[in-house]
Amino acid sequence: MMTPPLPRPRVLSGMRPTGALHLGHYHGALKNWVALQATHDCFFFVADWHALTTQFQDRQDRQSIERNVYDMVVDWLAAGIDPEQATLFIQSRMPEHAELFTLLAMSTPSSWLERVPSYKDQVGKHPELATFGFLGYPLLQAADILIYKAQFVPVGEDQTAHVELTREVARRFNRIYSPDLLPEPQALLTDTSRLPGLDGQKMSKSLGNAIAMRDAPEVVETKVRTMPTDPQRVRRTDPGDPARCPVWPLHLVYTDAATRIDLETGCKTAAIGCLDCKQPLIEAIQREQAPWRERANAYLANPKQVHWIVEVGAERARAVARKTLKEVRSAMGLAY
Ligand code: TRP
Ligand code: SF4
Repeated sequence: MMTPPLPRPRVLSGMRPTGALHLGHYHGALKNWVALQATHDCFFFVADWHALTTQFQDRQDRQSIERNVYDMVVDWLAAGIDPEQATLFIQSRMPEHAELFTLLAMSTPSSWLERVPSYKDQVGKHPELATFGFLGYPLLQAADILIYKAQFVPVGEDQTAHVELTREVARRFNRIYSPDLLPEPQALLTDTSRLPGLDGQKMSKSLGNAIAMRDAPEVVETKVRTMPTDPQRVRRTDPGDPARCPVWPLHLVYTDAATRIDLETGCKTAAIGCLDCKQPLIEAIQREQAPWRERANAYLANPKQVHWIVEVGAERARAVARKTLKEVRSAMGLAY
């Protein structure tokens, strides 16, 4: 008789629906999610409530949120997230998260939320963000994580304070109501700084320096060909230095070491021009994108399938979420 497989450690992560994703999202997060789904019990969700904490006044934002949600899910699937292996869902279809948020709020001091660094920072810059919802952002995130008793939370550096708060919320809850009910999650730090944008700054849609996962091959070609290079390499005959060039960090991600040695020598001796140097990069990005496009096109031709995937995911997630909620309610004396 076969022994049943050991339960795989649980991973949970979410992304706010920013619409079509770019190469920075892929290399900073999605690639890691794809690797994790093979070895862990993964829950990945669209944090659309979290998006609403900062984007609610503009009619335009409200009209684009649905498209942004589904564009993002298509990009996850395009990147190779497999709905058979991982559980994919949309936060706002899970009122269970909101119930846990409410129950956790009873034991969480408001000072803990007021002192989260990003809160003061953001409200200082944008006074309209001084809402109860935005103050509660990290507690909602704690509920997202704790409701699945996730062991690991793959996130970028900017989210470590939120995972730390989640641990504190869990610790306090356990101390007050029931020892060990909510396990403290661990952040799995993903290096999101590796892939800079077209101008050398962090790749970001709002900075206009991004290559989208689904940019057409000609768009990639134009974007890379017009990238600035070593500012000291003005003429083709001027020697350059990859250390000063915004193209180089992309080569570090996309180009093998042997080719890089040739390019570096060519640059420093002015044996090659910048367009020669960029060509293998353009081709490497286009090669990487080809399978994404193929998968994305299949889903775009069949949007019902995408809706179905997140419905099935929500049902799977709900089974886990309800179990935790039942325990939490009972620990709080609400088992009637
Ligand atoms: N705050 C996260 C971000 O902006 C998104 C998020 C919401 C999240 N809930 C989460 C990430 C739970 C990990 C776990 O990226
Ligand atoms: Fe940058 Fe390559 Fe031009 Fe050198 S040859 S400056 S590394 S693009």
